[in-house]
Amino acid sequence: MKKYAVIGNPVSHSLSPLIHREFASQFNINLIYTKIRADSADFSQKITDFRADGGSGLNVTLPHKKAAFIVSDQLSEPAMLAEAVNTLSFREGLIVGDNTDGTGLVNDLQANKKIDLKDKRILILGAGGAVSGVIGPLLSQQPDLLVIANRTAQKAFDLQAKFSKFGQIIGCGLNQIERNKFDLVINATSASLAGEVPQISANALGSTVFAYDMMYAKQPTAFINWARRNGVTNTADGLGMLVEQAAAAFHIWHDKRPVTATVLEHLRRNIKR
Ligand code: ATR
Repeated sequence: MKKYAVIGNPVSHSLSPLIHREFASQFNINLIYTKIRADSADFSQKITDFRADGGSGLNVTLPHKKAAFIVSDQLSEPAMLAEAVNTLSFREGLIVGDNTDGTGLVNDLQANKKIDLKDKRILILGAGGAVSGVIGPLLSQQPDLLVIANRTAQKAFDLQAKFSKFGQIIGCGLNQIERNKFDLVINATSASLAGEVPQISANALGSTVFAYDMMYAKQPTAFINWARRNGVTNTADGLGMLVEQAAAAFHIWHDKRPVTATVLEHLRRNIKR
């Protein structure tokens, strides 16, 4: 039986084993999918051990996406652009790194939430690891404008410089967001983890029609509550992105496209916190 796992820290609450097992059952694929807790100090060793044990692939979660990028022998284009890897495949003695976060977000927005990103004005809050992976795939959908606003403005400027050859992208500080009639606002900061909302003026929401938090939780996140209080009626958290990035990783490993809607419904009903 082929072996897969999710590697991260913390990893005990990861939903990836459940998701991949449900996908596998759609195709009668038998696989073993476990969780591996790894510190930064023992990340490489845990990968070596997993490969030696016959492992076929790993999903990589925080805080190791950069380390996974570094250990990869070969990289897909999204992984190269993101400088971060969330999916590792062990093939013919090589470590192949991929990044499915951006595909996951785009598929959740377009296929599940029915938001056509073409010609839309999109605001992303945050400029950390969660953002670098999604800019390329978002720009490939040809939005009218992508604004990256971050507490530390310099990081947003850096992303603008790096990605401007792929589309219309502007970096700025959280307090420099102009009223731009954004169609879609995406929170990609880690503020929700602490129950906080990025300090932006509610004016920045303008006529926003959709607010999306890349974090997910049983209850609406602080950002989603804030958006609703400020008049945005259409909101979603990142559970759909989690399932879609897993589906893209499943496709890389098994060359099959699983049905995601039923898995997403199941998770939504059973999510613990
Ligand atoms: P991740 O990989 O989840 O993006 P990260 O690389 O540590 O994690 O980045 C966290 C992001 O959340 C950053 O954009 C950070 O802003 P800074 O670059 O200024 O640190 C942002 N962030 C975290 N807490 C925040 C808060 N309370 N308000 C606004 N932004 C916050």
